[in-house]
Amino acid sequence: MTATARPFRSVLYIPGDKPRALDKARGLPVDAIIFDLEDAVAVEAKADARATLADALAQGGYGQRFGIVRINGMDSDWGSADLDAILPAGPQAVLLPKAESAAQVEAVAARLDAVPACATTQIWTMMETPRGILNAAAIAAAPRMGGFVMGTNDLAKELRTRFTPDRQPLVTSLQICLLAARAEGIAIVDGVYNAFKDDDGLRRECEQGRDMGFDGKTLIHPAQIPVANEIFAPSQDDIDLARRQIEAFEAAEAEGKGVAVVDGKIVENLHIVTARQTLSKAEAIAALES
Ligand code: COA
Ligand code: MG
Repeated sequence: MTATARPFRSVLYIPGDKPRALDKARGLPVDAIIFDLEDAVAVEAKADARATLADALAQGGYGQRFGIVRINGMDSDWGSADLDAILPAGPQAVLLPKAESAAQVEAVAARLDAVPACATTQIWTMMETPRGILNAAAIAAAPRMGGFVMGTNDLAKELRTRFTPDRQPLVTSLQICLLAARAEGIAIVDGVYNAFKDDDGLRRECEQGRDMGFDGKTLIHPAQIPVANEIFAPSQDDIDLARRQIEAFEAAEAEGKGVAVVDGKIVENLHIVTARQTLSKAEAIAALES
């Protein structure tokens, strides 16, 4: 599956130094996991986390869940050793925090190129600094790029914006990254919702992210998974509408017309592209859940 065809509705962060959470994740209904060595791990636990995570990855058992390892920055004391520890396991993706340039991606790509187990390993980047957002197009086009993860907490801090329920202060940054991701055909997932016990707030933010075009949402707690899986999947209404649009359009075409009408709205070829994407996304989700 290509990065965009694979579902990324729910992308759960798991601190790399928590064996219990690492184990629990083997049974959670998430589309992807971010095994974290960066901000979820305290400085004094960095070395232990690296070893704990390398063990868990070698052991495997994560099934269809797409495994992404978030390393520490390559300019930190730990980034390079993180790569040494996790690359032998051939992770599906390595996530670079605070990415700001294509050159940073190229440097990590060169490290991956030297490891046979990483032949298909993608690079994902955290988009969470002003310079990173401004360079989003170049970063998305860099080698091995598979996806963007919005780091909305760091970004809000850097921009000095306040958290508002409508996230208006972050919308420009979110959209710049969406433009870059879609231009290059890579995946893009939204930032976390910090109040992990507030399901209504999570639901609203997931709906906003979905409507903007994100593939899914990053999550901090297992309780957030069902909401993200529901909101970022096509609903039964979406699926029914897509089928009716395709049917009506094919019937119109058979009569030599280029436009059909469904529910009082025109349906052209471009709507059929979206309708087919909706159906293939629903199929990919069904395959993942079967
Ligand atoms: N992934 C997998 N399992 C998790 C988890 C996660 N992110 N967060 C909690 N769990 C597990 C716990 O291990 C616990 O399992 P158990 O019942 O088998 O012991 C269960 O879910 C319930 O946890 P709970 O007690 O409700 O949460 P908590 O108070 O221990 O922890 C957080 C709350 C927010 C500290 C914790 O969820 C966490 O560390 N999240 C990740 C934070 C992170 O990665 N931040 C960096 C990116 S923003
Ligand atoms: Mg961050």
